[in-house]
Amino acid sequence: MRIDILTLFPEMFDGVLGTSILGRAQSAGLLTVQAWNIRDFAFDKHRTVDDVPYGGGAGMVLKPDVVTACLEHVKAVNPGKVVYLTPQGSVFDQVKAESLAQEASLILLCGHYEGIDQRIRDGWVDEEISIGDYVLTGGELPAMVVIDAVARLIPGVLGDEASAREDSFVNGLLEYPHYTRPAEFRGRQVPPVLLSGNHEMIRKWRLKEALRLTLKRRPDLIERRLLSDEERQLLREVLKEECNEGR
Ligand code: ADE
Repeated sequence: MRIDILTLFPEMFDGVLGTSILGRAQSAGLLTVQAWNIRDFAFDKHRTVDDVPYGGGAGMVLKPDVVTACLEHVKAVNPGKVVYLTPQGSVFDQVKAESLAQEASLILLCGHYEGIDQRIRDGWVDEEISIGDYVLTGGELPAMVVIDAVARLIPGVLGDEASAREDSFVNGLLEYPHYTRPAEFRGRQVPPVLLSGNHEMIRKWRLKEALRLTLKRRPDLIERRLLSDEERQLLREVLKEECNEGR
């Protein structure tokens, strides 16, 4: 997959993209990421990228001519969807990450200041994405979040393919708890079923604990879910246990 990023701060991406799984994905040729500096496409000697908003008000707006010059340059090498990161976008989730991971290439446009001229959004942007209901200083951190979530879904990027499939949200539930050796740590025991070697009991325990955690932290995910007979039964047990716990 190829991802091009349009930003005023390309250096922000160096550490994140060069490290760990994203670094390895690029060395392995599974992912190519290039950050472009929008300022390199300015027309005047001061390399101006923004201007005051028509109608007045606080903040500056990225100029449409400069952003378009950068976009058109990048589009010549990457014909992919243009995604603008903004708190006004649709909220990013695992389903969106999976659909973006199907694309051969993407262009991520990062705003700053008050944003970009609306005509860029109307004429050049295919999709607008927010990473959550809070406002950051720019689209760079959101772009990194999107790249990370999408890149790990590219076949071969994660060493262990199973771990991507079992993660939280992939089956619509939060993930069950994990343990490793030692079996007892500072007086805390690993749940005995995990030491039993009984794969069916372990599967059931994990599903039940995933349901318990999801019910506590994200009841909205349970409400939305079409529960299987087994899940309904396990959820009943969880509810009974949690009620007894409360007494
Ligand atoms: N730019 C500033 N805040 C943002 C957010 N929450 N998501 C995406 N882009 C942003």
